[in-house]
Amino acid sequence: MKSANESSIRHLIPPEFLEPNWRFWSFVLITVLGTALLFMYRVPVYDGLTDPFYTPTILILPLVALFRVTCYAYRKDYHRHLFNHPNNCASDVRLDSKKRGYSGETGFFRVENVHRYFMYTAWGVLPFFYYDVYHSITYSGALTLSLGTIILAVNAIAVTIYTFSCHSVRHLIGGHKDCVNCPVSKNRKNSLYRFQSRLNGHHEAIAWTSLIMFVFVDLFIRGMVSGVIPNILLIHGRF
Ligand code: FES
Repeated sequence: MKSANESSIRHLIPPEFLEPNWRFWSFVLITVLGTALLFMYRVPVYDGLTDPFYTPTILILPLVALFRVTCYAYRKDYHRHLFNHPNNCASDVRLDSKKRGYSGETGFFRVENVHRYFMYTAWGVLPFFYYDVYHSITYSGALTLSLGTIILAVNAIAVTIYTFSCHSVRHLIGGHKDCVNCPVSKNRKNSLYRFQSRLNGHHEAIAWTSLIMFVFVDLFIRGMVSGVIPNILLIHGRF
């Protein structure tokens, strides 16, 4: 017979984590292995280039990871493709079984709502990506523009667009409306809100592009460190 403690702990764990779900557990395994490898095989700053996973330090990786994990775009994808639920916005039907209903952001998944706070930590990290670009241009004491600098700059811009296309940013500058189709208030007519809304409409694609870019830059710099990829120098001259 289960003790009261045992059943109350079990009650706290979402059913998604207790099911034999190979997709979810493979994902967890890959994530844990990937994170362990990032900690074990750190890349030095190479040719003035800093790997974005280590900006400003790998110790803040959990903050960055939590910002991504609680992002609405990824939430949709992992609820839909890892937990098989919900399959679309209008349906409560699961592809694999109908054993349980979709409970949304309740119970354990209420924790996803901290995303709005991680938004601020993400803002705090952004300047470091631009500092890395600046560092790669000036580290040698001469003006240096290499393929690596351009890749770092593109990554910084991609992370910036990702961060500012966030749903929480839209909520912040849109008059704090918890509603997509509310009547357009005076506040919501402002051009910043409309511009951000256009970006926000592509947030999922932007989120994945930015994540893939992050991994690409990491592999690019590791390729350079191991001598497989050359860092093509485009401009090198005195200030
Ligand atoms: Fe994706 Fe905020 S919703 S970053």
